[in-house]
Amino acid sequence: MVTKVHPKLKEPVEAENWTDGIEQPLALMDQIEEDIASTAELANHSVVSARQFSRVQLIQLCRLAAKFETQQSFGQFPLTGKILISAFYEPSTRTRLSFESVWQRLGGDIISITDPSTTGIAKGESLKDIAEMMNHYGDVVVLRDSNEAAIYEMLEATRIPIINAGNGTDEHPTQALADMYAILKWRPELVMDKVNDEHKITIGIIGNPGRMRTVRSLLLFLAQISPAITEVVIISNSTDSFDEGQREELEAEGLTIRTSSELEPELPNFDVVYINAIAWVGNSYEEHGAEYKLSKASPLKKGAIILHPLARGEELSSDLDDTEHNWYFAQARGAVFARMALMSSLVRF
Ligand code: CP
Repeated sequence: MVTKVHPKLKEPVEAENWTDGIEQPLALMDQIEEDIASTAELANHSVVSARQFSRVQLIQLCRLAAKFETQQSFGQFPLTGKILISAFYEPSTRTRLSFESVWQRLGGDIISITDPSTTGIAKGESLKDIAEMMNHYGDVVVLRDSNEAAIYEMLEATRIPIINAGNGTDEHPTQALADMYAILKWRPELVMDKVNDEHKITIGIIGNPGRMRTVRSLLLFLAQISPAITEVVIISNSTDSFDEGQREELEAEGLTIRTSSELEPELPNFDVVYINAIAWVGNSYEEHGAEYKLSKASPLKKGAIILHPLARGEELSSDLDDTEHNWYFAQARGAVFARMALMSSLVRF
């Protein structure tokens, strides 16, 4: 029972100025020459995997995200009259809210399902039949489903774009797009075709690429900027953290990968530290590498950034929130602009 007036209630809400942090997206836009044709190629396409994007498309989407982030208003509401079907069959804070926020900010309307048992699935209806209906009720579907195969089954019947918002332990391509947007805003020069050795970065990923969809998709995108990366170090206690063929595919794309079970001795070398400790599987989650923890006391390199797809647990101490290393909140905020860039490219007006 609260008996006192909370001190925050005596003060007006501290509003964020929309220009706060605008320098970095502006610098990213300066670094990249606009190429509208490459993102126009995405129109009316579904998005299931990070594999679908070329290097140029990835970089141009990040440029477009920066363009949205540096605008005070989104102008003519390009999605007016368009309906998003938001189907989230698994818990989500950021992905669902940011997709829905994007759609509404761009002028569109939303219909949503958050529990499959309230649909014909409870009566044994097939995903293909549900997808067939969605063709008539909306213009884009965003699907999160613990069942890896569900999006592929629905793809068989959809004639409107369907976007993978996380399919089991497989992929989460739009989260990885937000991750890349954060990295490229931090260091715009990483988009260059040739990056000098002193500007190349080392990335430490504390996680399990074969079980974590965010890590799987991120690695596929990192391969697209491999000329800018000295090395990706996977920190894991597992001896089989990659799926069969996964590491080989990334190395064939130019990524140099090393694995290590030690975090502390590696940490001072990392420019980017990506940490995640859970993988959602079925109706619950698995913990991976929960013994690896980051806090203010960790030996982080000066200027290094920490990314986390969130929701966080004990692996990422909140005592880092007020430090220069906290890029995880900027990463989550930027996800709105990254998804705005993607959605406005997919939907033909
Ligand atoms: N990063 C991410 O997928 O977060 P949510 O589960 O909150 O959507």
